[in-house]
Amino acid sequence: MPDQQVTLSVFRYRPGQDAEPVFQEYQVPYHDDWVVLDALNWIKESVDGTLAYRWSCRMGVCGSCGMMVNGVPRLTCAAFLREYYPAPIRVEPLANFPVERDLIIDLDGFLEKLKSVKPWVIRDGVDSATNGEYLQTPGQLARFKQYSMCINCMLCYAACPVVGLETNFIGPAALALALRYNLDSRDQGNAQRQQLLGSDEGAMACTFVGECTTVCPKNVDPAGAVQQEKVLAVNDWYYNVLVPWGKR
Ligand code: FES
Repeated sequence: MPDQQVTLSVFRYRPGQDAEPVFQEYQVPYHDDWVVLDALNWIKESVDGTLAYRWSCRMGVCGSCGMMVNGVPRLTCAAFLREYYPAPIRVEPLANFPVERDLIIDLDGFLEKLKSVKPWVIRDGVDSATNGEYLQTPGQLARFKQYSMCINCMLCYAACPVVGLETNFIGPAALALALRYNLDSRDQGNAQRQQLLGSDEGAMACTFVGECTTVCPKNVDPAGAVQQEKVLAVNDWYYNVLVPWGKR
């Protein structure tokens, strides 16, 4: 083991078995090129094989290793020990989610919210003139491309104060994903999504704190997406007041 070490204070909890969560401290070898995920893997392999957490790609692609690191939502495969050293590092499960065990959160509610915005291309039918092939210009692609870069890491849900207070709020990633499809020139599902997006559980619940955009590791701008959806919801409302027979 190298001379230098760093203290990891890790959240441990088994709901139904433990009375309450505890923080367990581990002395971990310090390496300049180690990330927090390396330190957790070292603990699991060398000290305590029962420590539970998710990870997969180890390169910021799969979105599964998100945790609170010193109170901030981070991908642990991209959070270097050197950012914190020599201070201790506190590792907790993502905020605003139920805990399944240790650092593992329950994803069911998040997955339901994603599904609720119908995140797929909706067509009224197949265009026989193009035989179902719908070409896009680079400009049309650019309108939605940034919103398709989301890796569903849920850091934005852990950072959002509204998600913590309003359990029904469908949240930043799902709202950004809805806009991604609404802006897609191949999609015709705007009207099917709009009722949910304009509801109390949709964009209007957002108080524009903007932390979702700050913590996104892929430079997606969910806060910007939500503000665009608010404008669209207001436009819809006025249209329906002025042209009630032409409701959309
Ligand atoms: S392990 Fe895949 S994003 Fe970190």
